[in-house]
Amino acid sequence: MLVLGIETSCDETAAAVVEADPAPGVPVGRIRANVIYAQLGEHRPFGGVVPEIAARAHLEHIDGMVARALADAGVGFADLDGIAATAGPGLIGGVIVGVMTAKAIALAHHKPFIAVNHLEGHALTTRLIEPVAFPFLLLLVSGGHCQLLAVEGVGCYRRLGTTIDDAVGEAFDKTAKLLGLGFPGGPAVERTARGGDPARFDLPRPLWRKPGCDFSFSGLKTAVRLAAASLPADDPQAVADLAASFQRTVGDILVDRCGNALDMFRASADLADDAPVSLVVAGGVAANQHLRMRLADLAATRGARLVAPPPALCTDNAAMIAWAGIERLRLGLVDGLDVAPRPRWPLDPTARAAIGRTGVGAGVKV
Ligand code: KG4
Ligand code: ZN
Repeated sequence: MLVLGIETSCDETAAAVVEADPAPGVPVGRIRANVIYAQLGEHRPFGGVVPEIAARAHLEHIDGMVARALADAGVGFADLDGIAATAGPGLIGGVIVGVMTAKAIALAHHKPFIAVNHLEGHALTTRLIEPVAFPFLLLLVSGGHCQLLAVEGVGCYRRLGTTIDDAVGEAFDKTAKLLGLGFPGGPAVERTARGGDPARFDLPRPLWRKPGCDFSFSGLKTAVRLAAASLPADDPQAVADLAASFQRTVGDILVDRCGNALDMFRASADLADDAPVSLVVAGGVAANQHLRMRLADLAATRGARLVAPPPALCTDNAAMIAWAGIERLRLGLVDGLDVAPRPRWPLDPTARAAIGRTGVGAGVKV
């Protein structure tokens, strides 16, 4: 089974061709092509993603990306079994470009169209690489989201916790901006933190050791702003120390919340305290090596195993959309051409609305 995936929900114009066995029981796929046009140059002057510029750049590059993915894979439209595109959540102008491109290809070549939830793309990526059985516990950490979910099957998500204010990727991006590290922020903070002392700044850990597994990052962001303002000028060591302290604090928060989530997951799935559980981390922030290490340590002490996609598949890409398309197509879950692109699309529609706001503002997906 061969599926073309298209991703345009933020600032990456991406296309991929992924191959897999058609039987649903056989996980793991093979990436035949995976190309990305990252619109860094377009957005860098503004210090963040500008939705209107992103939409126009997607329009300009999407046909070329699709042609390159097919050429890299050595296949034509006729060889495909389905066309999958991110249909939300995301910056709506870009989502419309991807969805309309996919629908046009599907219509012209008489292929099934699969509308993929971008978050489901992140959630299932790990199964493209290695077998991970349902149910598993998912920590989804990206620029617009910070959630813990019980993943019970394709399309079956139960949210255990979410952020009550900002997404964790947004906190990384804001910290990078405050420290003058530029855009995109997450990788810059990680790089800078390597030379820093993580114990130098004592930053707040909102909701730490409280019951449940919701998150909060706005107080941490404010503390970083105040600490950054008090740094001596031209002191790269102080900047590195603050970056490292911030990253360690985020690690403390994620470990604490995931610890509670493991208990909630085991209880709700009726699993014994020592039953093996897969803790999957996905989304752009999951590319962070320090956070992966902290989560792997937690998993090891709690009878769980951490599963994380390779860093290049954590940040936005189209292979994850093609793979989610394969998972859905194998179950007969295809969509009509009347499916509308949507800016918001929760994985668990029954979950209560988060208190406060998440990721609102230019440059961050909601
Ligand atoms: O999943 P993603 O590519 O796009 C969204 O769906 O939001 O995630 C992007 C987010 C950005 O906030 C970026 O700063 C963060 O992931 N990120 C990182 C790292 N690489 C990307 N955060 C921390 N460490 C990294 N190495
Ligand atoms: Zn994403």
